[in-house]
Amino acid sequence: MRILVSLALVATLGLCGAIVFVLRSPLPAGDWLTNPAASYELARGENPHPVVLVRPVAAPLSAMAQLGKQVFFDSSLSSSGRLSCASCHSPQHFYGPPNSQPAMFGGPDMKRQGVRAVPSLMYLEAQPSFSIGPDPAGENDTLPNLPQLTAQATKIPRVTKTAQSTAQTAANIVPQGGLFWDGRADTLQEQAMGPLLSPFEMDGGSIARVAAKLRAAPYAKSFTELFGPNILNDPQMLVSEAMFAVARYQIEDESFHPFSSKYDAWLEGKARLSQAELRGYLLYNDPAKGDCAACHLDQPSPDGQPPLFTDHQYEALGVPRNPDLAANRNPAYFDEGICGPYRSDLAKETPYCGMFLTPTLRNAATRHVFFHNGVYHNLKQVLDFYDFRDTDPARIYPRAVDGKVEKFNDLPPSFQRNVDVTDPPLNRQPGEMPALTPKEEEDIIAFLKTLTDTSMSAATH
Ligand code: HEC
Ligand code: HEC
Repeated sequence: MRILVSLALVATLGLCGAIVFVLRSPLPAGDWLTNPAASYELARGENPHPVVLVRPVAAPLSAMAQLGKQVFFDSSLSSSGRLSCASCHSPQHFYGPPNSQPAMFGGPDMKRQGVRAVPSLMYLEAQPSFSIGPDPAGENDTLPNLPQLTAQATKIPRVTKTAQSTAQTAANIVPQGGLFWDGRADTLQEQAMGPLLSPFEMDGGSIARVAAKLRAAPYAKSFTELFGPNILNDPQMLVSEAMFAVARYQIEDESFHPFSSKYDAWLEGKARLSQAELRGYLLYNDPAKGDCAACHLDQPSPDGQPPLFTDHQYEALGVPRNPDLAANRNPAYFDEGICGPYRSDLAKETPYCGMFLTPTLRNAATRHVFFHNGVYHNLKQVLDFYDFRDTDPARIYPRAVDGKVEKFNDLPPSFQRNVDVTDPPLNRQPGEMPALTPKEEEDIIAFLKTLTDTSMSAATH
């Protein structure tokens, strides 16, 4: 009898414990009912469905990539003699900017401020080419006629993106792919020419001047070894091949795509999330809460490709104007992303004006400057933007002299209607409850910190 009572007591206590565990877990009750075993593992911070991630195969750098590495770190190519690719895309800072300035300084005297925040160079190797429409043209197709595509695309209504139905499944008709915040370059090679020659950046001056410097560089011999003796006599070819080599370096060197974050380990069942990280992960994926995964995709592909935390699409979020950017001292100047002023082919495609490329969130927790105009300096400010942009815009935007809140003040009035007001959490009305409480914002930040790579060993010069 006594034994029976004790057993019953133990069972009751166990059941109570289990109920408390279930109730205290951040998982919805429905999940516990439909899948108790998986829910138990998840509630303990473990991944109930571990996968084997397919990482790029690590191999020694080819001769081409080794040459590219030398070019990447060569500051003699800039007019100031002080800027290399690595100065702005710092290997010690996950190939992002080394400081919290909204844009880097360059030019001959290092006094000209750039116009946009420096993006990280990591995880770009799979970036698709720029296109508009659900069905990007295959590599063998002729180049798509962008204005024509736009005309077709704008006739089809937009689908709302949520963490449960991302644009990849919804086949949204929005611009996608490409490099730079506005997608104006398609390949890493083509891309590198921009900063090399831009008067605000390395200010190389002209192809001829850069070619002369390459001919005089200690690694000049590698060019003739790789491309034949005539390469040094053809400035255009020489600079182009140098940038091809830089692109090879970014593609081959493991430090640009280590996939070594805690989250990667978790996906593989080799790490356990803390309770704060787990809550953040669930909020990140919950369409009624953060809904971040709608655009910053966080699930591996069925064949084990690790998630890149971007859907490679463009959105107009309407981030506030940054008064610290020199270019913004001119009230008539607006950075309209896809529409210009740094690309001109889509200047007339007004539905896309104000759209910028969705960046990866891998290593975002290490950055000190956020969004295309570098307006924010920590993740708390970014989360507040998503939370209060619509529910309490006075917290996000300045007021005009008449007291009116200047919502979307970094876009000309005619383009403000392009701002995304349909995808959660950006679909709320003034006065509504914000999507996230301060505590929930903290939890999402804890989750974002699990996206920081732990091995950057290959990056040391
Ligand atoms: C003065 C700072 C600076 C220097 C030097 C610099 N960059 Fe950049 N880089 C930027 C900025 C700013 C952007 C974003 C520009 C934009 O979107 O219009 C950028 C964008 C890029 C991108 C596109 C990234 C993306 O997410 O789309 C690549 C690739 C790149 N740079 C490679 C290079 C290479 C290679 C070099 C050296 C030849 C270099 N950069 C030198 C500032 C710099
Ligand atoms: C509708 C798509 C969409 C959703 C939903 C979304 N983002 Fe973004 N995110 C973007 C785009 C587009 C940008 C770049 C906008 C710009 O610079 O103008 C961005 C930029 C960011 C940046 C800045 C990264 C950098 O390198 O500058 C962070 C951090 C970020 N998002 C986090 C989040 C979090 C956290 C959530 C969920 C609360 C979220 N995002 C939801 C599209 C989205």
